[in-house]
Amino acid sequence: MQVFVKEKGLKQRISYLKSKGKSIGFVPTMGALHDGHMQLIKASKQKCDITVCSIFVNPTQFNNKEDLVKYPRTFERDKELLKNEGVDIIFHPTAEVVYPKGLDLSVDMDLEGLDTIWEGEFRPGHFKGVVQVVKRLLDLVEPGYLFMGQKDFQQFTIISMMLRKLKISTELIVVPIHREKSGLAMSSRNVRLTKEFKTKSLVLSRMLKYAKDNYRFDKISEIRKYALGKIEEEGLKPEYFAIVNGYDLHEVKSSDENYIIAIVAAWAGEIRLIDNIIISK
Ligand code: PAJ
Repeated sequence: MQVFVKEKGLKQRISYLKSKGKSIGFVPTMGALHDGHMQLIKASKQKCDITVCSIFVNPTQFNNKEDLVKYPRTFERDKELLKNEGVDIIFHPTAEVVYPKGLDLSVDMDLEGLDTIWEGEFRPGHFKGVVQVVKRLLDLVEPGYLFMGQKDFQQFTIISMMLRKLKISTELIVVPIHREKSGLAMSSRNVRLTKEFKTKSLVLSRMLKYAKDNYRFDKISEIRKYALGKIEEEGLKPEYFAIVNGYDLHEVKSSDENYIIAIVAAWAGEIRLIDNIIISK
Protein backbone atom coordinates (compact mmCIF):
# COMPACT_ATOMS: atom_id res chain seq x y z
CA MET A 1 0.00 0.00 0.00
CA GLN A 2 1.31 3.44 -0.91
CA VAL A 3 0.49 6.70 0.81
CA PHE A 4 0.65 9.94 -1.20
CA VAL A 5 0.38 13.39 0.28
CA LYS A 6 1.16 15.40 -2.84
CA GLU A 7 -0.42 15.65 -6.24
CA LYS A 8 2.64 14.77 -8.31
CA GLY A 9 3.41 11.35 -6.80
CA LEU A 10 -0.23 10.34 -6.89
CA LYS A 11 -0.75 11.37 -10.51
CA GLN A 12 2.44 9.66 -11.68
CA ARG A 13 1.50 6.40 -9.99
CA ILE A 14 -2.03 6.46 -11.34
CA SER A 15 -1.00 7.22 -14.89
CA TYR A 16 1.52 4.36 -14.70
CA LEU A 17 -1.20 1.95 -13.48
CA LYS A 18 -3.58 3.15 -16.18
CA SER A 19 -0.88 2.64 -18.84
CA LYS A 20 -0.79 -1.00 -17.70
CA GLY A 21 -4.53 -1.24 -18.31
CA LYS A 22 -5.59 -1.22 -14.65
CA SER A 23 -9.06 -0.02 -13.71
CA ILE A 24 -9.16 2.49 -10.87
CA GLY A 25 -11.83 2.59 -8.13
CA PHE A 26 -11.97 5.64 -5.86
CA VAL A 27 -13.44 5.94 -2.34
CA PRO A 28 -13.33 9.52 -1.00
CA THR A 29 -13.59 9.79 2.81
CA MET A 30 -12.89 12.17 5.66
CA GLY A 31 -11.25 9.41 7.71
CA ALA A 32 -12.28 8.19 11.17
CA LEU A 33 -13.07 5.05 9.26
CA HIS A 34 -15.64 2.49 10.32
CA ASP A 35 -17.24 -0.61 8.83
CA GLY A 36 -19.54 1.55 6.68
CA HIS A 37 -16.52 2.96 4.83
CA MET A 38 -15.12 -0.55 4.57
CA GLN A 39 -18.17 -1.68 2.56
CA LEU A 40 -17.22 0.93 -0.06
CA ILE A 41 -13.65 -0.34 -0.09
CA LYS A 42 -14.87 -3.94 -0.47
CA ALA A 43 -17.16 -2.94 -3.36
CA SER A 44 -14.27 -1.16 -5.09
CA LYS A 45 -11.89 -4.09 -4.57
CA GLN A 46 -14.44 -6.42 -6.06
CA LYS A 47 -14.99 -4.31 -9.18
CA CYS A 48 -11.64 -2.65 -9.84
CA ASP A 49 -7.98 -3.66 -10.17
CA ILE A 50 -6.77 -0.77 -8.02
CA THR A 51 -8.51 0.90 -5.09
CA VAL A 52 -7.62 4.46 -4.09
CA CYS A 53 -8.99 5.85 -0.82
CA SER A 54 -8.65 9.52 0.04
CA ILE A 55 -8.67 10.83 3.59
CA PHE A 56 -9.24 14.56 3.77
CA VAL A 57 -11.35 16.50 6.25
CA ASN A 58 -12.61 19.09 3.80
CA PRO A 59 -12.96 22.48 5.50
CA THR A 60 -15.15 23.96 2.75
CA GLN A 61 -18.08 21.64 3.49
CA PHE A 62 -18.33 22.42 7.22
CA ASN A 63 -20.86 25.13 7.89
CA ASN A 64 -20.22 24.70 11.61
CA LYS A 65 -16.69 25.57 12.76
CA GLU A 66 -16.97 23.53 15.95
CA ASP A 67 -17.97 20.41 13.98
CA LEU A 68 -14.84 20.85 11.84
CA VAL A 69 -12.58 21.26 14.87
CA LYS A 70 -14.15 18.29 16.67
CA TYR A 71 -14.26 16.02 13.63
CA PRO A 72 -12.37 12.86 14.69
CA ARG A 73 -8.94 12.46 13.08
CA THR A 74 -7.44 8.98 13.41
CA PHE A 75 -5.02 8.65 10.50
CA GLU A 76 -2.69 5.95 11.90
CA ARG A 77 -5.63 3.71 12.76
CA ASP A 78 -7.30 4.41 9.39
CA LYS A 79 -4.08 3.48 7.60
CA GLU A 80 -3.96 0.14 9.40
CA LEU A 81 -7.61 -0.61 8.56
CA LEU A 82 -7.09 0.23 4.88
CA LYS A 83 -3.94 -1.87 4.72
CA ASN A 84 -5.77 -4.86 6.20
CA GLU A 85 -8.56 -4.40 3.69
CA GLY A 86 -6.07 -4.50 0.80
CA VAL A 87 -6.32 -0.87 -0.37
CA ASP A 88 -3.60 -0.05 -2.93
CA ILE A 89 -3.27 3.72 -2.53
CA ILE A 90 -4.13 6.20 0.21
CA PHE A 91 -4.28 9.85 -0.77
CA HIS A 92 -3.89 11.96 2.37
CA PRO A 93 -3.38 15.52 1.17
CA THR A 94 -3.11 18.74 3.12
CA ALA A 95 -5.50 21.63 2.47
CA GLU A 96 -2.70 23.37 0.51
CA VAL A 97 -2.50 20.40 -1.87
CA VAL A 98 -6.26 20.25 -2.42
CA TYR A 99 -6.72 24.02 -2.60
CA PRO A 100 -3.43 25.51 -3.82
CA LYS A 101 -3.22 29.29 -3.75
CA GLY A 102 -3.98 30.94 -7.05
CA LEU A 103 -5.95 28.06 -8.52
CA ASP A 104 -9.63 28.75 -9.17
CA LEU A 105 -11.40 25.61 -8.01
CA SER A 106 -14.92 26.92 -7.78
CA VAL A 107 -17.48 24.69 -9.46
CA ASP A 108 -20.26 26.95 -10.61
CA MET A 109 -23.14 24.71 -11.42
CA ASP A 110 -26.90 24.89 -11.10
CA LEU A 111 -27.80 22.07 -8.74
CA GLU A 112 -31.47 22.71 -9.46
CA GLY A 113 -32.30 23.28 -5.81
CA LEU A 114 -31.00 19.86 -4.70
CA ASP A 115 -28.41 21.66 -2.60
CA THR A 116 -30.77 23.97 -0.72
CA ILE A 117 -33.42 21.56 0.61
CA TRP A 118 -33.17 19.18 3.61
CA GLU A 119 -29.47 18.99 4.52
CA GLY A 120 -28.88 22.10 2.44
CA GLU A 121 -31.42 24.09 4.42
CA PHE A 122 -29.86 23.20 7.75
CA ARG A 123 -26.25 23.22 6.52
CA PRO A 124 -26.04 26.21 4.15
CA GLY A 125 -23.12 25.96 1.73
CA HIS A 126 -22.38 22.36 2.70
CA PHE A 127 -23.06 20.83 -0.71
CA LYS A 128 -21.15 23.51 -2.59
CA GLY A 129 -18.15 22.41 -0.51
CA VAL A 130 -18.82 18.74 -1.20
CA VAL A 131 -19.15 19.33 -4.95
CA GLN A 132 -15.96 21.39 -4.97
CA VAL A 133 -13.88 18.79 -3.15
CA VAL A 134 -15.24 15.75 -4.99
CA LYS A 135 -14.65 17.48 -8.35
CA ARG A 136 -11.10 18.37 -7.33
CA LEU A 137 -10.39 14.83 -6.07
CA LEU A 138 -11.80 13.35 -9.29
CA ASP A 139 -9.49 15.62 -11.30
CA LEU A 140 -6.55 14.33 -9.28
CA VAL A 141 -7.42 10.62 -9.26
CA GLU A 142 -9.33 10.32 -12.57
CA PRO A 143 -10.98 7.05 -11.55
CA GLY A 144 -13.19 4.87 -13.73
CA TYR A 145 -15.47 4.25 -10.75
CA LEU A 146 -16.47 6.36 -7.77
CA PHE A 147 -17.92 4.63 -4.69
CA MET A 148 -20.26 6.50 -2.36
CA GLY A 149 -22.65 5.48 0.41
CA GLN A 150 -26.44 5.53 0.42
CA LYS A 151 -26.09 6.84 4.00
CA ASP A 152 -25.62 10.32 2.53
CA PHE A 153 -28.51 10.11 0.10
CA GLN A 154 -28.59 13.76 -0.86
CA GLN A 155 -24.82 13.84 -1.29
CA PHE A 156 -24.65 11.02 -3.84
CA THR A 157 -27.73 12.40 -5.64
CA ILE A 158 -25.95 15.74 -6.06
CA ILE A 159 -22.68 14.13 -7.11
CA SER A 160 -24.57 12.06 -9.66
CA MET A 161 -26.02 15.30 -11.08
CA MET A 162 -22.54 16.84 -11.14
CA LEU A 163 -21.10 13.89 -13.10
CA ARG A 164 -23.96 14.16 -15.59
CA LYS A 165 -23.80 17.94 -16.00
CA LEU A 166 -20.03 18.14 -16.32
CA LYS A 167 -19.97 15.06 -18.57
CA ILE A 168 -17.44 13.33 -16.34
CA SER A 169 -17.13 9.73 -17.49
CA THR A 170 -16.52 8.27 -14.01
CA GLU A 171 -19.30 5.84 -13.05
CA LEU A 172 -20.90 6.33 -9.65
CA ILE A 173 -21.61 3.21 -7.62
CA VAL A 174 -23.80 3.57 -4.53
CA VAL A 175 -23.28 1.16 -1.64
CA PRO A 176 -26.16 0.40 0.79
CA ILE A 177 -26.17 1.77 4.35
CA HIS A 178 -24.17 -0.32 6.77
CA ARG A 179 -25.69 -0.45 10.25
CA GLU A 180 -24.68 -1.54 13.71
CA LYS A 181 -26.54 -4.65 14.93
CA SER A 182 -28.75 -2.26 16.90
CA GLY A 183 -29.89 -0.59 13.66
CA LEU A 184 -27.91 2.65 14.13
CA ALA A 185 -26.41 3.75 10.80
CA MET A 186 -22.63 3.77 11.12
CA SER A 187 -21.09 7.23 11.10
CA SER A 188 -17.77 8.78 12.07
CA ARG A 189 -19.72 11.06 14.41
CA ASN A 190 -21.15 8.11 16.41
CA VAL A 191 -18.00 7.95 18.55
CA ARG A 192 -19.03 11.33 19.95
CA LEU A 193 -22.48 10.10 21.07
CA THR A 194 -22.93 9.68 24.81
CA LYS A 195 -23.96 6.18 25.91
CA GLU A 196 -27.44 7.46 26.62
CA PHE A 197 -27.88 9.04 23.19
CA LYS A 198 -26.44 5.99 21.46
CA THR A 199 -29.49 4.08 22.72
CA LYS A 200 -31.95 6.93 22.23
CA SER A 201 -30.77 7.43 18.63
CA LEU A 202 -32.11 4.01 17.69
CA VAL A 203 -35.48 5.72 17.35
CA LEU A 204 -34.29 7.09 13.99
CA SER A 205 -33.81 3.75 12.26
CA ARG A 206 -36.91 2.44 14.03
CA MET A 207 -39.04 5.26 12.63
CA LEU A 208 -37.61 4.84 9.13
CA LYS A 209 -38.49 1.15 9.29
CA TYR A 210 -41.94 2.12 10.57
CA ALA A 211 -42.38 4.43 7.57
CA LYS A 212 -41.38 1.67 5.18
CA ASP A 213 -43.62 -0.96 6.77
CA ASN A 214 -46.63 1.34 6.95
CA TYR A 215 -46.17 3.37 3.77
CA ARG A 216 -49.23 4.36 1.84
CA PHE A 217 -49.47 7.59 -0.14
CA ASP A 218 -52.55 8.76 1.75
CA LYS A 219 -50.88 8.10 5.10
CA ILE A 220 -47.73 10.20 4.56
CA SER A 221 -48.65 13.07 6.86
CA GLU A 222 -49.82 10.67 9.57
CA ILE A 223 -46.55 8.70 9.40
CA ARG A 224 -44.51 11.87 9.50
CA LYS A 225 -46.35 13.20 12.53
CA TYR A 226 -46.02 9.89 14.37
CA ALA A 227 -42.29 9.60 13.61
CA LEU A 228 -41.49 13.19 14.63
CA GLY A 229 -43.44 12.68 17.87
CA LYS A 230 -41.55 9.50 18.74
CA ILE A 231 -38.18 11.12 17.96
CA GLU A 232 -39.01 14.03 20.26
CA GLU A 233 -40.26 11.65 22.96
CA GLU A 234 -36.79 10.06 23.03
CA GLY A 235 -35.24 13.46 23.69
CA LEU A 236 -33.76 13.99 20.22
CA LYS A 237 -34.36 17.23 18.34
CA PRO A 238 -35.54 16.43 14.81
CA GLU A 239 -34.77 18.82 11.96
CA TYR A 240 -36.80 16.94 9.38
CA PHE A 241 -38.50 13.65 8.71
CA ALA A 242 -39.83 13.41 5.19
CA ILE A 243 -40.94 10.99 2.52
CA VAL A 244 -39.44 12.08 -0.76
CA ASN A 245 -38.92 11.13 -4.36
CA GLY A 246 -35.38 9.74 -4.68
CA TYR A 247 -34.75 11.47 -8.01
CA ASP A 248 -35.47 15.09 -7.14
CA LEU A 249 -35.81 14.83 -3.32
CA HIS A 250 -39.16 16.60 -3.34
CA GLU A 251 -41.88 15.40 -1.01
CA VAL A 252 -43.98 12.72 -2.66
CA LYS A 253 -46.96 14.42 -4.25
CA SER A 254 -48.80 11.63 -6.00
CA SER A 255 -49.51 7.95 -5.60
CA ASP A 256 -47.92 7.07 -8.99
CA GLU A 257 -44.41 8.12 -8.01
CA ASN A 258 -41.78 5.44 -7.68
CA TYR A 259 -38.34 5.45 -5.98
CA ILE A 260 -39.62 6.59 -2.60
CA ILE A 261 -37.26 7.33 0.26
CA ALA A 262 -37.79 8.31 3.89
CA ILE A 263 -35.12 10.69 5.19
CA VAL A 264 -34.41 12.01 8.67
CA ALA A 265 -32.04 14.39 10.45
CA ALA A 266 -31.97 14.98 14.20
CA TRP A 267 -29.74 16.21 16.97
CA ALA A 268 -28.82 13.63 19.60
CA GLY A 269 -27.42 15.98 22.23
CA GLU A 270 -24.51 17.75 20.54
CA ILE A 271 -24.36 15.36 17.60
CA ARG A 272 -26.30 15.71 14.40
CA LEU A 273 -27.34 12.41 12.83
CA ILE A 274 -28.86 11.60 9.44
CA ASP A 275 -30.34 8.39 8.11
CA ASN A 276 -32.65 7.16 5.36
CA ILE A 277 -34.45 4.11 4.02
CA ILE A 278 -35.57 3.14 0.54
CA ILE A 279 -39.30 2.47 0.74
CA SER A 280 -39.69 1.43 -2.88
CA LYS A 281 -37.51 1.46 -6.00
P1 PAJ B 1 -17.42 10.51 5.01
O1 PAJ B 1 -18.48 10.96 5.93
O2 PAJ B 1 -16.11 10.07 5.56
O3 PAJ B 1 -18.02 9.34 4.16
C1 PAJ B 1 -17.29 8.77 3.11
C2 PAJ B 1 -18.23 7.85 2.33
O4 PAJ B 1 -18.65 6.78 3.19
C3 PAJ B 1 -19.50 8.56 1.86
O5 PAJ B 1 -19.78 8.20 0.51
C4 PAJ B 1 -20.55 8.05 2.82
O6 PAJ B 1 -21.87 8.04 2.28
C5 PAJ B 1 -20.05 6.63 3.09
N1 PAJ B 1 -20.60 6.11 4.33
C6 PAJ B 1 -20.54 6.69 5.56
N2 PAJ B 1 -21.21 5.94 6.46
C7 PAJ B 1 -21.72 4.87 5.78
C8 PAJ B 1 -22.52 3.76 6.16
N3 PAJ B 1 -22.94 3.58 7.41
N4 PAJ B 1 -22.84 2.87 5.20
C9 PAJ B 1 -22.44 3.05 3.91
N5 PAJ B 1 -21.68 4.08 3.50
C10 PAJ B 1 -21.33 4.99 4.42
O7 PAJ B 1 -19.11 11.80 2.91
C11 PAJ B 1 -18.00 12.27 3.12
O8 PAJ B 1 -17.08 11.67 3.96
C12 PAJ B 1 -17.51 13.55 2.47
O9 PAJ B 1 -18.60 14.40 2.25
C13 PAJ B 1 -16.73 13.32 1.15
C14 PAJ B 1 -17.62 12.65 0.08
C15 PAJ B 1 -15.48 12.48 1.40
C16 PAJ B 1 -16.28 14.69 0.59
O10 PAJ B 1 -15.48 15.37 1.49
